Amino acid sequence: MQAKLLMVSVITLALLGGCSGKSDSGSASSGGSISGGAMLAFVKTQDGSPLEIKAELFDTPAAKEFSTTGKNTYVGNADAIAKGKKLFQMYSCTQCHGGDAGGQTGPNLHGPDFRYAKDASNKGMFETIWNGTNGGMGAKGKGLMDPSDPTNGLSPDEVLQIQAWLRNQNQKLTGNE
Ligand code: HEC
Repeated sequence: MQAKLLMVSVITLALLGGCSGKSDSGSASSGGSISGGAMLAFVKTQDGSPLEIKAELFDTPAAKEFSTTGKNTYVGNADAIAKGKKLFQMYSCTQCHGGDAGGQTGPNLHGPDFRYAKDASNKGMFETIWNGTNGGMGAKGKGLMDPSDPTNGLSPDEVLQIQAWLRNQNQKLTGNE
């Protein structure tokens, strides 16, 4: 009888030990996985509510840097600026904002005075392009532009290239805010 009790308590101790050991190593490994820095808390331009964007979509060095710091390293980069201008045409942004983004049916995108003041910052403008507005600007982010086709739409890297082109037209916006 006594031996059996001992066995039970040994097993119980072993289980408890195993359990706490597991949770220790679990928290250690999750601490290690955020070594790249936490992702910015994106919000919708529509209402300021949380905007979830899958981390794996930030798949280039520039996009990764932006996702944690809000910096757009393409600003001032001639290659990215040229690509951004092409994307602006390919995605028909020109139809509403004009060939040089100076405004047409849609507003001027040169700033520094934007309809949405936050668009003076990289993060703010990114959110507006990615998820759209309630006033006639559709979501252009990957998977949102055409919900039936998840491959359709701009990647984060492409949004940053477009921004680099837009910022290049207004030297007051350094792109690092
Ligand atoms: C069908 C027309 C249309 C297209 C296409 C379009 N936009 Fe817009 N866009 C608008 C309108 C209208 C607004 C104003 C929205 C509002 O007031 O809520 C706007 C607003 C914006 C703003 C916010 C400007 C501010 O002053 O805050 C940005 C940035 C923007 N668009 C970027 C783009 C980009 C980049 C593309 C292409 C990928 C694009 N738009 C395509 C119509 C369009």
